[in-house]
Amino acid sequence: TLAQHETRDSHAGRRVLVTGAAKGIGLAMAEAFARRGATVGVLDIDAGEVAAAVSGLPGASVAMTGDVSDYVSLTRAIAQAEAEMGGAFDTLINNAGISPKHAGVAHKVWEMDPDEWARVVDVNLTGSFNCIRALTPAMVEAGRGWIVNTSSVAGKTYFPIVACHYAATKSAIIGFTKHLAGELGPHGIRVNALAPGRIATPMVAGVAAELNEAEVRRTPLGRLGEPAEVADTALWLTSSESSFVTGQTIDVAGGLSM
Ligand code: NAI
Repeated sequence: TLAQHETRDSHAGRRVLVTGAAKGIGLAMAEAFARRGATVGVLDIDAGEVAAAVSGLPGASVAMTGDVSDYVSLTRAIAQAEAEMGGAFDTLINNAGISPKHAGVAHKVWEMDPDEWARVVDVNLTGSFNCIRALTPAMVEAGRGWIVNTSSVAGKTYFPIVACHYAATKSAIIGFTKHLAGELGPHGIRVNALAPGRIATPMVAGVAAELNEAEVRRTPLGRLGEPAEVADTALWLTSSESSFVTGQTIDVAGGLSM
């Protein structure tokens, strides 16, 4: 129907949790969903930045402070937000992620601190599990839900610009997404992932300019991506316009790594 293709209020009535939403891609996600009529739970580990982010959003949103790797504090923040919104989250954007570097350079495996490895696994992989674990009971009960995880082109191909912990977690997200799509599909829940290329965010700004320029030269579209372009793909993956798509990892990379 025509109404199905009307996108302006495509997410009206939806309650969307975006993690790592104080800046970068997550902030663009929060803006995009709010503009499309959703109520957005804006979760970040940084309380001050969350408050600033929420005050600038166009629609209804709820500030949430928490660490996705800490299940107890995470579920407390979710319960508070759901009480404030008057209902459970039906949409989850697992965006929070870290890519530790040292003076802009990725550590090689033989010099990596085991605690740093563990932290990256805790945030990038277990953090996504924790949010999914917390939100899926209500989604299964409702018989509907939308989940978007965040992989990376570095989860599919070797990129010397990142370290092995990052590549390992982003690769794991692809398999995790497929398995969950299988488990949750019969319950009306679609699970997909995004694999961004080089996107202009604070994370990427932390890398030496010549390294980013080298990636741009390898990108057929010849530029860094914008956070809003990743957000647009998440809008699509959580809308009726992608209703038969699940278990997929979609590159948003300007053709970098095909
Ligand atoms: P960013 O570093 O600019 O922003 C990440 C946000 O997540 C920050 O606000 C940070 O405070 C928050 N965060 C970090 N740890 C957290 C935790 N434990 N709990 C809650 N919030 C936490 O990152 P960016 O570039 O926006 O990346 C977002 C996602 O996209 C990440 O998963 C990243 O790995 C992925 N990605 C980014 C690419 C890029 O080129 N920027 C490329 C491929 C993937």
